[in-house]
Amino acid sequence: MTDNPKREQWGSKLGFILAAAGSAVGLGNIWKFPYLAGENGGAAFVLVYLVCIVILGLPIMIAEIVIGRHTEKDPVGAFKIIGTGPWSLVGYLGVAAGFFIMTYYSVVGGWTIGYLVKSLSGALCSITSSADSEQLFARFIQSPWEMILYHFLFIGATVGVVIFGVAGGIERFSKIIMPVLFILLIILIIRGLTLPGADAGIRFYLNPDFSKITPKVIIEALGQCFFSLSLGMGAMITYGSYLSRKDKILSSSIKIVGIDSIVAILSGLAIFPAVFAVGMTPEKGPGLTFNILPVVFSRMPYGFVFATLFFLLLFIAALTSAISLVQVVVAYVTDEKGWSRARAVLTAGGLIFLLGIPAALSFGTMKDVKIFFGNTYFDFMDILTSIYMLPIGGLLIAVCLGYKYGLHNTMHELDADTNSFYLKEIWAFTIKYISPVILLAIILYFGVYKMIVP
Ligand code: PFF
Repeated sequence: MTDNPKREQWGSKLGFILAAAGSAVGLGNIWKFPYLAGENGGAAFVLVYLVCIVILGLPIMIAEIVIGRHTEKDPVGAFKIIGTGPWSLVGYLGVAAGFFIMTYYSVVGGWTIGYLVKSLSGALCSITSSADSEQLFARFIQSPWEMILYHFLFIGATVGVVIFGVAGGIERFSKIIMPVLFILLIILIIRGLTLPGADAGIRFYLNPDFSKITPKVIIEALGQCFFSLSLGMGAMITYGSYLSRKDKILSSSIKIVGIDSIVAILSGLAIFPAVFAVGMTPEKGPGLTFNILPVVFSRMPYGFVFATLFFLLLFIAALTSAISLVQVVVAYVTDEKGWSRARAVLTAGGLIFLLGIPAALSFGTMKDVKIFFGNTYFDFMDILTSIYMLPIGGLLIAVCLGYKYGLHNTMHELDADTNSFYLKEIWAFTIKYISPVILLAIILYFGVYKMIVP
């Protein structure tokens, strides 16, 4: 295929890498990764996670970008080309996953706005102990109006950016925040590590106890690998479809995966030493980051300045990820259904807001409403997407590219990566033989395991 003159493209190669890294780096790294590690045995989870990243995450990232650039289409259109027939369903699965993830992602995105407001208004200044912080958070997530308002504001911000289009809207946001976020994390790590009692946190986070590696840890780490790298639903297919033929897919993918993993690992380092130092438990669940960081800020000079900056950056990181989630849905309706961008974005935003309301209320008003094995609506959406839809999407992407369309038809997409002959061969082998087998085994085993051991 040749460059389609009518299709928008990234302004520069760096623009693509930053936007793709912007999609990958988000709440998944700073909010979700630490709390999953906390619930799943600390270092044991980190180890399984890193293995998943290397043997599944990176190859599937490359596969998605290859598919995107090859077809220059949204995920649904792409699968109509490389899969045809029932394979087009893979694209729809991706669009649905993007939509579902966004319904609860935007609730947590709203928390970042709420905490930004709390930092600015001085509410975080009154925190002196972990008990204060836990109380503040509990009150916050139980307040229905605050939850719905912030959920609304987060969707509004996302819609605002997506409406302005690919190069103009998205690229501008991705260029500045990453380095600053990085520096702030380092400052938080230094503060956490110098608190008395921090060493227990380092042991928990970095010294694996192999007996803690259970099927649950493996499936959670796998789901988190897909979620954190924005894989399995076509976000990277969509972004790849705007990539110029001159750009190198292998080296860009390695950079994106590297940046994402480093931010996740650093987030854990910023959180666990502090958790142990103040005597909090690492199994706090989704509140972990929001409970511990205000305590760390309270022990820093000018803590409120750092807190404000941190929650602002976390908000922007969440926004750049949310943009890519909405972008998958929007690219589908504009490319396949011929809707105008504005109509697509506003309709998707409105529906996500409505479907997200039960997720916003899942920690308060609706916390006793249980669906699917006793989960709240929020947890259900999370499990449905990260544990089932994304890994299944990843499996189907690998099988479709490896067996249905044929890798030989797309290998020329890697031509720009001139010096990486072995890497290309290793990638092709992995996508054909390793990724599908491991993914199938884990998905089947987990399905069976879940049914036998509830
Ligand atoms: N990768 C994002 C994060 O870690 O916060 C979440 C996400 C974005 C998942 C886009 C999937 C996706 F397609």
